[in-house]
Amino acid sequence: MTPEPAISIRELLAFYLEAGVDCALTEEPVNRLAEPEFTPAPREAAPAQPVRPAPLPLPLPRTEPPAPDAAVASAREAARTAPTLEGLRELMERFDGCVLKATATRLVFADGNPLARIMFVGEAPGRDEDIEGLPFVGRSGKLLDRMIGAIGLDRSKAYIANVIPWRPPGNRTPTPLETQICLPFIQRQIELVDPDVLVTLGNPSTQTLLGTREGIMRTRGRWFDYDTGTRVIRALPTFHPAYLLRSPAYKRLAWQDLLAVAKALRGGAS
Ligand code: URA
Repeated sequence: MTPEPAISIRELLAFYLEAGVDCALTEEPVNRLAEPEFTPAPREAAPAQPVRPAPLPLPLPRTEPPAPDAAVASAREAARTAPTLEGLRELMERFDGCVLKATATRLVFADGNPLARIMFVGEAPGRDEDIEGLPFVGRSGKLLDRMIGAIGLDRSKAYIANVIPWRPPGNRTPTPLETQICLPFIQRQIELVDPDVLVTLGNPSTQTLLGTREGIMRTRGRWFDYDTGTRVIRALPTFHPAYLLRSPAYKRLAWQDLLAVAKALRGGAS
């Protein structure tokens, strides 16, 4: 029989990725198959035992997250006191009130030009962003770059961030509590960047930042007022690039939204 070729680490990792495994839960891999072998005692020697449920596995040790209200209050306080974007980033690096930080590789703070007149805000970093520490660098980021390019801009003329700055494990949807904890940070970030136009990408970002419960199909392309805390700016929701990748038919509407943004930046009425 021809022996099976040995699987290389690269092939094994590719297999894990295909199977949806995209994050490690502990620093060191645990080979469960190598755990102590179970040797059953000889049948006749075993005394009769009542049938008991198997013991539950011990929970992984974890640090207790702070109480929800305390976490939201401490995020608010930290964000309020950040004097600059760099100061805000440092505060967020030190902030331990959001459980997402424990599973994320790193903080994904922002990309682009802090002096830009336009700011794009997405939902939360994905795998690529978590690895690179920059927002929108994966597939949807490439499309966002093309969308920004369509109105004659690039990352040097735009500022990009997310409502949630830490990748949720396995890209799960952030919980309402996680969103509430992170909200003061993005609000302060918007206040410090102080763009003329804010573009919210997709439903979660739109509903969280613009305080609406309406869905993106109704909100996209409609101008909202956004109070940064120091002034009122204009905000326009549009589709999230990840959604456009799945539903390219909506690119036409996104294009209309971008034209409205370009017009607003030129000082045109909407
Ligand atoms: N999706 C987002 O909402 N943000 C990113 O940074 C990447 C993908």
